[in-house]
Amino acid sequence: MIVVKKYSELSEQTKDKLNLYIEGEFGHIPIVNETEWAIPDWTIVYYRNNLVATFYNIVEREILIDNKVIKVSGINNVITPKEFRGKGYATKILQETEYIIFEDLNCDLGVLLCADNLIPFYERLNWYKVDCPVYFEQSSGVILWEANTMLLSKNGKMNPQRIKLNGLPW
Ligand SMILES: CC(C)(COP(=O)(O)OP(=O)(O)OC[C@H]1O[C@@H](n2cnc3c(N)ncnc32)[C@H](O)[C@@H]1OP(=O)(O)O)[C@@H](O)C(=O)NCCC(=O)NCCS
Repeated sequence: MIVVKKYSELSEQTKDKLNLYIEGEFGHIPIVNETEWAIPDWTIVYYRNNLVATFYNIVEREILIDNKVIKVSGINNVITPKEFRGKGYATKILQETEYIIFEDLNCDLGVLLCADNLIPFYERLNWYKVDCPVYFEQSSGVILWEANTMLLSKNGKMNPQRIKLNGLPW
């Protein structure tokens, strides 16, 4: 069963459980700890027998692409707990809930920031890497994102020259 919930309406118990997985996967990475991250707007969880089999978050944001305002869904914390990996669950949840980005939230794009090793995984799901500079905000000012940025378009690929996330990254 796939459950889509506003992040602000998740029970404390669910938030704690998901945060434990997030902490376990990313908590030890210095750059993750040193960065201020956006609070998600939505959480999508695939449950099997009442257990979290995979999940991810969406941040809704108006960003600037080549100085044009574009409404996007920022995807983050895609995590499949270790015991459920390699069974196609992350693929399933991302494919089956693509409609949230384009229909429910009426966004023009999905945007995700990721490490090199996962590019092939997302490419199989029709995401594509962009090579332009991507800027995000921190309390200290505007920062250039040093890793990869991938987009998911409804129709046709974009070839942007410059992206500004207009806020904290996700
Ligand atoms: C990435 C992740 C969400 C995939 O979940 P999953 O449910 O096992 O995914 P699927 O079964 O749909 O697809 C598995 C494929 O993902 C890819 N993949 C998973 N982890 C990978 C890694 N560390 N490096 C490269 N590819 C990886 C592989 O292609 C794998 O295929 P294989 O099983 O044939 O090797 C899961 O491994 C995870 O939670 N990883 C840790 C957190 C993370 O890095 N999340 C991504 C943040 S952008």
